[in-house]
Amino acid sequence: LSALSVASEVYPLIKTGGLADVAGALPGALAAEGVATRVLLPGYPAVLAALRGAEAVLDLNPLFGGAARLLAGQAAGLDLFVLDAPHLYDRPGNPYSGPDGADWPDNPQRFAALAQVAARLGQGALPGFLPDVVHAHDWQAGLAPAYLHYAAVQSSTRRPGTVMTVHNLAFQGQCDRAWLPTLGLPPESWAIDGVESYGGIGFLKAGLQLADRVTTVSPTYAAEIRTPAGGMGLDGLLRFRGAAVSGILNGIDTTVWNPADDAHLPAPYSADALAGRQASRQALRSRLGLIDDDSGPVVGIVSRLSWQKGMDTVLQALPALLRHGMRLAVLGAGDRDLQDGFARAAAANPGRVGLHLGYDEGLAHLIQAGCDALLVPSRFEPCGLTQLCALRYGALPVVTRVGGLADTVIDANEMALAAGAGTGLQFTTATPDALEAALDRLAVLWRDQAAWRRVQHNGMTSDVSWAGPARRYAALYREAAGLV
Ligand code: ADP
Ligand code: GLC
Repeated sequence: LSALSVASEVYPLIKTGGLADVAGALPGALAAEGVATRVLLPGYPAVLAALRGAEAVLDLNPLFGGAARLLAGQAAGLDLFVLDAPHLYDRPGNPYSGPDGADWPDNPQRFAALAQVAARLGQGALPGFLPDVVHAHDWQAGLAPAYLHYAAVQSSTRRPGTVMTVHNLAFQGQCDRAWLPTLGLPPESWAIDGVESYGGIGFLKAGLQLADRVTTVSPTYAAEIRTPAGGMGLDGLLRFRGAAVSGILNGIDTTVWNPADDAHLPAPYSADALAGRQASRQALRSRLGLIDDDSGPVVGIVSRLSWQKGMDTVLQALPALLRHGMRLAVLGAGDRDLQDGFARAAAANPGRVGLHLGYDEGLAHLIQAGCDALLVPSRFEPCGLTQLCALRYGALPVVTRVGGLADTVIDANEMALAAGAGTGLQFTTATPDALEAALDRLAVLWRDQAAWRRVQHNGMTSDVSWAGPARRYAALYREAAGLV
């Protein structure tokens, strides 16, 4: 089976969040299931610089008013197609916005181009390459199923199966209806069962409507987005798609995240040889200037600082956290207000609140290895990856019972403990009160170190790999391609 995976970011080439981790790790895991995956991504400067053995395989001139070509090559063990279109992608800043933080005004074209090239590959534009499935990730690739659908209708030809994966329904890629002809969408696509969404063009909506299968990254999020409370305006469509919508949990790359072999840690350790973890605890304390105090655990955070992640509730619950003798180790970047709030908290609580504002891969690993618990108080969370890293690294995840957090952490309540099954703590909602109650429970567990160790061991021996998820994606690809 062959698949074309289309994404706007791919770890380790370019990353702003978990989407990149997934797009970078899934192809390797799918190989073990007999799926050969080529990944198509935009030719950002960082991607072109990393590409090895690049060969121009397709002339795409002109593409949305500029020169473009398709490069094939390898990087980081991935077989890549890179869309080299300097007028769209040769820019500073992150994949979506310029150095001033504002979205590029031509983002509709930048990502329609990506989707259009995916569709052309899906129609056999490149001799010798015909994928059985085109897998579109998030709104940036959302038009790919639409282009494939309308092209097949117009020419009454077969097309590959299409899968649309939602990593975050909050980002829908909405633009003005005036873009329709520019984006090369046929007039009939302007319809409620086409690309139209709330009076504009919805890239993600188009994919949700027109892909053969829709997935999201956890079963609980798949259920939540079918409700008005979680559907962000698209719950009606998702209910309508019915059984075509499913949730497949993410895994993490267990070679990148392996405490027994991690260059970012001062000493290796594992579930059965925990001694080396002490070195990471110490290294983290000295890195972030935290005092040693065994009366409470060190609570870590590795997160975008945003409303979704519930970071404001952490600031509100901070006095309660500190009262328990806990300390806080924060790595994050994002909203200005939250950055300022954490900076003030760190300044006011030297030795007790340690902070690094920014993006730092090495420190993310050290926090997972060096903190005792990892806090993920999200308001909603499609899957979440940091709690999976925490499980593997022996930090007890403390999470809200939403989305993928609900599906990946087993709350260490009395029944779970009696059954030997708890792996962390869950609390109901991202409010300061609920978070404080969770911290109270964490403090109680900390005082029973034998129970704490059992929960930690359960977490460290949980399967957080891509093996199971890859099996599910492979089965879904076969369905979407009409092979079963
Ligand atoms: P989201 O994609 O919503 O931000 P995920 O939990 O799925 O959340 O993925 C976040 C990814 O980004 C994880 O791999 C996490 O380790 C990483 N990450 C988040 N913030 C930082 C940061 N400030 N520095 C380094 N890595 C970070
Ligand atoms: C999104 C979601 C996150 C998920 C990630 C990868 O960024 O916010 O929950 O883990 O995508 O699927």
